[in-house]
Amino acid sequence: MVTGTVTVDRYGVMGYPVSHSRSPVIHRLFALQTGQSLQYELLRVTAEKLEEAVRQFQRTGGKGLNVTVPHKRAVCRLVDQLSERASTAGAVNTLAFQDSEIFGDNTDGIGLLRDLVVNLGLNLDSANILILGAGGATRGIVGPLLEMRPRTLRIANRTLKRAEDLVERFERMGPVTACRFNVIPVSESYHLIINATSAGLEGETPPYPAAAVSEKTFCYDLSYGIKPTPFSIWARDHGAAHSVMGWGMLVEQAAESFHIWRGVRPDTKAVLKQMSISA
Ligand code: ATR
Repeated sequence: MVTGTVTVDRYGVMGYPVSHSRSPVIHRLFALQTGQSLQYELLRVTAEKLEEAVRQFQRTGGKGLNVTVPHKRAVCRLVDQLSERASTAGAVNTLAFQDSEIFGDNTDGIGLLRDLVVNLGLNLDSANILILGAGGATRGIVGPLLEMRPRTLRIANRTLKRAEDLVERFERMGPVTACRFNVIPVSESYHLIINATSAGLEGETPPYPAAAVSEKTFCYDLSYGIKPTPFSIWARDHGAAHSVMGWGMLVEQAAESFHIWRGVRPDTKAVLKQMSISA
């Protein structure tokens, strides 16, 4: 008897560590909702094994990957064709395998903007924005935030040089400046403060600039958790008008990846609701 094998399109998220990732749950919910048949795996891959793991996934029929910490920059060199936004960011979070070619994109920025502007109703035109952190996460969001025409966008980082390097990369796009945490100018209050440091992952609360928060400030943490993150607690304790964790961005960036792979856009509101209930 010949048994036929049903081949299901394979996707996954590659990172290190990666066990905490909610991407498999989100993509399964998207697949269920849109009637797509696919499988989505967690792939724990160290920096040394990244290239080998990507090539093997492609060779064995994988259709697409999400790439997360710490590989978002390193994976750029494996890509044959880079989207404009990924090239501007110098970081990739989505790979699509098309024939023998690898296409690289970055959906982090659009994911954040969808959450801020569509889901949360923020108007960033002429806003004063402060980003804390100057790592891979910041790279993906600076360009899309500048496209919203803020009055100022300041990047504050523990290591000034990394913030200055990002200013050099993005200054042609808009009014972006760099500083250290402890010398953030606060002559005008910030409408939006985004925590893009990974300090919370280690349970740390660096000396974030308390004077930058007013009762008008919207604080957004790119990190998320079942319990409030250290930054979201800090923001609430310092009188921010709103303190939100990055569940919305997580679901929105995933939806954009899903659209790149499957050509279908899932309803993120329904999935976000399911995620926050299961959180
Ligand atoms: P990611 O891809 O998550 O952005 P990353 O590229 O390693 O990760 O960047 C981590 C960011 O968090 C950096 O801005 C880092 O500051 P430095 O550039 O000074 O290293 C910041 N960060 C991590 N732990 C921190 C801590 N305990 N206090 C302050 N900043 C911290």
